[in-house]
Amino acid sequence: ALLQDGGFINPTLQAVPKREALEIEADQTPPFYLGMATAAPQIEGANATDGRGPSIWDIYEGIPGKIENGDTSAVADDFYHRYLDDIGAMRLLGVKRFRMSIAWPRILPNGDGQINQKGLDFYSRVLEALLVAGIEPHITLYHWDLPQALQDRFGGWNSAQIVPVFAQYASVVFNALGNYASHWTTFNEPWTFCFLGYGQGSGAPGLNDKAQAWNCVYNVLQAHAAAVKQFRALMPGAKISMNLNCDWGQPLSGSQADADAAQRKIEFMLGAFADPIFFGDFPASVKQRISYLPQITSQMAADLKGSIDYFALNHYTSTYVIGQQGAVGLQGPCDYIETQVTPDSHLIGDEADSDWLKVTPWGFRLMLNWVNNRYHPSEIVVTENGISMKGENDMPLAQALEDTQQVNFYRDYIAAATDAVKYDKVPMTGYFAWSLLDNFEWGSGYSKRFGVVHVDYRTQQRFYKASAKFLTQLFNTTVLDP
Ligand code: NOJ
Repeated sequence: ALLQDGGFINPTLQAVPKREALEIEADQTPPFYLGMATAAPQIEGANATDGRGPSIWDIYEGIPGKIENGDTSAVADDFYHRYLDDIGAMRLLGVKRFRMSIAWPRILPNGDGQINQKGLDFYSRVLEALLVAGIEPHITLYHWDLPQALQDRFGGWNSAQIVPVFAQYASVVFNALGNYASHWTTFNEPWTFCFLGYGQGSGAPGLNDKAQAWNCVYNVLQAHAAAVKQFRALMPGAKISMNLNCDWGQPLSGSQADADAAQRKIEFMLGAFADPIFFGDFPASVKQRISYLPQITSQMAADLKGSIDYFALNHYTSTYVIGQQGAVGLQGPCDYIETQVTPDSHLIGDEADSDWLKVTPWGFRLMLNWVNNRYHPSEIVVTENGISMKGENDMPLAQALEDTQQVNFYRDYIAAATDAVKYDKVPMTGYFAWSLLDNFEWGSGYSKRFGVVHVDYRTQQRFYKASAKFLTQLFNTTVLDP
């Protein structure tokens, strides 16, 4: 077995066999459903339209040097005005599920208080159009666009004051839009917005304090529990989760120290959220090392346990992990370091355009097994997986549309997940490709293209890439040219 019980990495396993051949036959549909994922701040644009208030990203984007090429999300894919065309394109492609987020600053421009009806109306229109097109929406409440007013008033996610405010926002959305969807998530990638946004300063709000980042984790967990309470009361038949991201951690050597370190890396990144939700407490490895870690009370543990109905996993890549006493990482003292290149210069996988992303489909299968072995969730939905193809942004259009690396990425990752379902009995039921459209990739601006549909940002024209056709054909749907 690649993994021992409880999710522990088998230290005797050194190299994971690389999968050479594609084992999804052309006529075989993967054993899970397909969806396309997006997020409001990355596609909508129209940041000052119809009463939307400023978000922490709007402000952060204005700080010189923070976003590549000085790009901003002000226009993005102009989805706010073009959603009917984009939903129509999905319908032609045969896409049946669409993951989207609601922009908090459209609904409550000041974070709380006055509701902006025009914001709610926009989402009603989008959701109705999706349903008419036969596409099921999966809705995320928070994909990083905190109303700036809340950052100004009490420090945003660093303060416990956020908890009732988020719960209020959630209840406004559930009341107005609850009938449109049966799959929801409270937060997208809290690891990323807490540790990069509050802990490192490489995302909004641009703060650089690890204790604040752990406060963020703690407040996110409480806000999640508070929102889920309302969700259960209002929408008893629907399902809710939290999108958690984790890279696979592969021990660099066969040593026990590296095996322990790789285990610890996943506990720090994924366990920091999933352990409280499943077990009511932070992982012991985290508690032992983070002196400023807030304590989970028994009331909070009771509220968190059972607060998700399916496991929502975002996964892209893997790193090598090395045990090293005294090492301090993004999350504080952790006694491990990570790298994507071996001492003799071998990359863990092929390069993508985004420097953090290496192509490691074998790690996807191991990651799914780790989640299954540790938490035994009833259902796993992969809510993001995808790639920015190496060099794509500098290619002529025709070449960018023949996105072979992206096609191969999807083929191999979907094959790895298929193996996890077939041979390892992982209860994975759904798979969302990130992303439908090229979009605003945070600090990278528009320079990284994750879409299966190409966007020409000068004209807002859309073009299907080969990957859009590959995915929809693989999942046994009909493809018609636009
Ligand atoms: C993580 C995020 O949820 C999404 O917003 C981002 O664009 C993708 N992964 C790619 O980096």
